[in-house]
Amino acid sequence: MRSYTLIAPAKINLYLEIIGDRSDGYHELVMILQSIDLADEIHLQAGSIDAIRLRCNYPELPTDRGNLAYRAAELMTVKFPVAYAKYGGVDINIQKRIPIAAGLAGGSANAAAVLVGIDLLWNLGLTLTELEQLGSLLGSDIPFCVGGGTAIATGRGEQLSPLNALDNIYIVLGKYRSLEVSTAWAYKTYRQQFGETYLRDTESLAARAAAVHSGSMVKAIVNRDPKEIAEKLHNDLERVVLPEYPQVLQLRETFAAAGVLGTMMSGSGPTVFGICESQQQAEQVKTRVRETIPDKDLELFVTQTITHGVQLTVNR
Ligand code: C5P
Repeated sequence: MRSYTLIAPAKINLYLEIIGDRSDGYHELVMILQSIDLADEIHLQAGSIDAIRLRCNYPELPTDRGNLAYRAAELMTVKFPVAYAKYGGVDINIQKRIPIAAGLAGGSANAAAVLVGIDLLWNLGLTLTELEQLGSLLGSDIPFCVGGGTAIATGRGEQLSPLNALDNIYIVLGKYRSLEVSTAWAYKTYRQQFGETYLRDTESLAARAAAVHSGSMVKAIVNRDPKEIAEKLHNDLERVVLPEYPQVLQLRETFAAAGVLGTMMSGSGPTVFGICESQQQAEQVKTRVRETIPDKDLELFVTQTITHGVQLTVNR
């Protein structure tokens, strides 16, 4: 029986600008996405069962269609019925480390790993672009999670242009276990409050995306300079999440006081991250934040940027 184990890394947003709305209810974005080494492990086995089965070490997560990873497997059975009939169902086991509903694309990373894993199990030979296109049918962040690294994402977040991948930059993450922010709520609230500033025509949207492409954050990434990157961090969704969730604002202030080069919320939050000069500084920041907020509900991680998305670990 064939099985594969894959690593599914989380992402953070170094940059997130909301530039318009769309007729499909989504928003036009310009983001810079970065993979980090905080990752889930996904084990897939073919042929032992007829249908799709999903298990997870995290009891709160659904194991049916409510889980994006399940929907990714289901999509593969619909798109590749001949391979499904030949190789049989897929047994999926997820070991979660990435906090859920955190703005770290944990669910999207799991779904990306399922697409890559089933491609291998069923000998489909799909290209990166084909896997990204399948991912975009399920969620805006999934295409990035397949290949990972560092990329500019436009459109809904699914149109990617890779940047020189940034490795070995140390980042501390903080997330309150019991605090979850709905991404749909964050975007809806942003539209209600700031929708009048949206760009309305295709040329203006393209010009804004081009400005970010040639802008100071991309230069900072090309220079691989953590200080410069830290100064250019940006996330429009902070404007709606910070006033509504004072704990997130307080965490951000605590990171700043602990001496990080720069701090920001990731995605729609509530995870806050801080960019550090070195691993040693990251460990110091983690200790200082823990001293200031001894609350056990707060999880802290020292991570680093990596240059890849989904990756195979064991091949039998
Ligand atoms: O694509 P995904 O399912 O990850 O998005 C979650 C929610 O976030 C969407 O239902 C939508 O409300 C919001 N969203 C958006 N514009 C985007 C991406 C997400 O409005 N570009």
